[in-house]
Amino acid sequence: MCGIVGYVGYRDALGVVVDALRRMEYRGYDSAGVAILDGASEIAVERKAGRLANLEAELAEAGVANFAGTTGMGHTRWATHGAPTDRNAHPHRDTTGAVAVVHNGIIENFAPLRHELESAGVELRSDTDTEVAVHLVSRAYTSGPTAGDFVASALSVLRRLEGAFTLVFTHAEHPGTIVAARRSTPLVVGVGKGEMFIASDVTAFIEYTRDAVELGQDQVVVITADGYAVTDFDGNSGVPTRPFTIDWDLAAAEKGGHDYFMLKEIEEQPAGVAETLIGHFDNGRIVLDEQRLADQELREFDKVFVVACGSSYHAGLLAKYAIEHWTRLPVEVELASEFRYRDPVLDRSTLVVAISQSGETADTLEAVRHAKEQKARVLAICNTNGAQIPRESDAVLYTRTGPEIGVASTKAFLTQITANYLVGLALAQARGTKYPDEVAGEFAQLEAMPELVARVLETAPQVREIARRFARASTVLFLGRHVGYPVALEGALKLKELAYMHAEGFAGGELKHGPIALIEDGLPVIVVMPSPKGRAVLHSKLLSNIREIQARGARTIVIAEEGDDTVRPFADHLIEIPAAPTLFQPLLSTVPLQIFAAEVAQTRGYDIDKPRNLAKSVTVE
Ligand code: AGP
Repeated sequence: MCGIVGYVGYRDALGVVVDALRRMEYRGYDSAGVAILDGASEIAVERKAGRLANLEAELAEAGVANFAGTTGMGHTRWATHGAPTDRNAHPHRDTTGAVAVVHNGIIENFAPLRHELESAGVELRSDTDTEVAVHLVSRAYTSGPTAGDFVASALSVLRRLEGAFTLVFTHAEHPGTIVAARRSTPLVVGVGKGEMFIASDVTAFIEYTRDAVELGQDQVVVITADGYAVTDFDGNSGVPTRPFTIDWDLAAAEKGGHDYFMLKEIEEQPAGVAETLIGHFDNGRIVLDEQRLADQELREFDKVFVVACGSSYHAGLLAKYAIEHWTRLPVEVELASEFRYRDPVLDRSTLVVAISQSGETADTLEAVRHAKEQKARVLAICNTNGAQIPRESDAVLYTRTGPEIGVASTKAFLTQITANYLVGLALAQARGTKYPDEVAGEFAQLEAMPELVARVLETAPQVREIARRFARASTVLFLGRHVGYPVALEGALKLKELAYMHAEGFAGGELKHGPIALIEDGLPVIVVMPSPKGRAVLHSKLLSNIREIQARGARTIVIAEEGDDTVRPFADHLIEIPAAPTLFQPLLSTVPLQIFAAEVAQTRGYDIDKPRNLAKSVTVE
């Protein structure tokens, strides 16, 4: 998730663009860059790894007078393809310097396009997927049927790209024009008087205009100072767009109109799951190219450890079910803070999966170091490109959900689960424990999950109403079985860390071994029901658990599959989620628990982005 802004008008474009990047740094801060058009034959570009301040220092050193112009664009990066370095920072230019591009998303078919360009003698200078787009536009503008036509050249290239992308192009020979395209990632036009903006979100231009237009799927907008024109990728106008007036203030705009980043990040989960999957299935096979473990290595492993902390540990617990089911490899899931002190048995045939959103968690980093000392191979699952844990690991699989600002992990958790499934399928594929068509079938079902997650988000008003009823409870218990058990643990953690309320997750089968003594009249218990079409025995046993606790006065809040009428008589409150394959249900059942905890905390008057005593990244042991 990156921050993009483009401007055409009468103001100093550099000032407009840099201010916009500052307000969009929450979308990514691995690097930043600007491109300013002043009529010269080359577009003036400056870009720098790290925070925006690094770019501003570079601009000052270069002399801002060299970036005079009233047309420009900028980019603040959350790295997916290519490490967060200067050479991978956007904007990228073609070899002549006359064409520039900034990009948010993933160009899935960049590898064949890169090969085509290199075969034609084009020298690519970065590791990014983005760069192929600018060279292709440059070549289309230089010769062939769209020669000399900037818009037509851009359209001809857009029609060749696969993946999810927002792309913004400028051309030195057209200093008053910007061409931008949208497929599956956000792009919005800011409509000013004598000036136009395009951006990833309205925070980029909210101080100049509140009149905006949201583009639709596979649409292109051409902006000039006097207006904008929207077409499809074939250049046909008359496509549907959504004009709207921004009624948020700047602070709310950064949070997508919500009071807190966490609430925005809960809503970003469908996109996060979708983007984490993009590019990882090609030609009938799981492709984890950036993870760098060859199939032969994947075949050599005889054991898997998963090490992590907090919510990432709960994601690891879920990984166990999928990996063992698909590969028959034994998987041990360990709290990173305990792992190295118990002297685990590791060797070169051991795969250690280290899960960390920040990639900086000290406990997990030390567990990685211990594993490496024992000659195990380490695969990091991380949301932060270039962080310490992936740097010290043998391989990495990045989740792609952009910066998670809220301290409580939500979209990172769901995308970690998603990445775990990819690792499990890659292992099964390499080891032949699942046939290619079975792997393809599982991946296809995974690709259907973002839409189902979006449907679960529609239960938010109902969940919030239930949460307010129990906001003053002294404790809440969470029950689950099988993959519902780690979900119960995660739900309890959310309530603890956000509402400062005692909460505990249990495996349903454990009730009779002690916890049922906790049940008393009015005690709220949230139950995560498995699908009745999955492991029927689990469903019936958990139903028995519900009856047992209800008979002792518990107030039952049941999360169950739509149409599961058997639970209805025992649910004081029933939250229905769509049907999903057993292993993938956590992507759905977790979401109401996130919403529940956030609402209880807000009802109690707490800041859910910054819970007391907690930090987003625990870099001390
Ligand atoms: C979860 O909501 C917490 N923010 C915390 O438990 C977190 O998951 C844990 O600290 C691990 O962080 P990491 O994923 O960045 O390593």
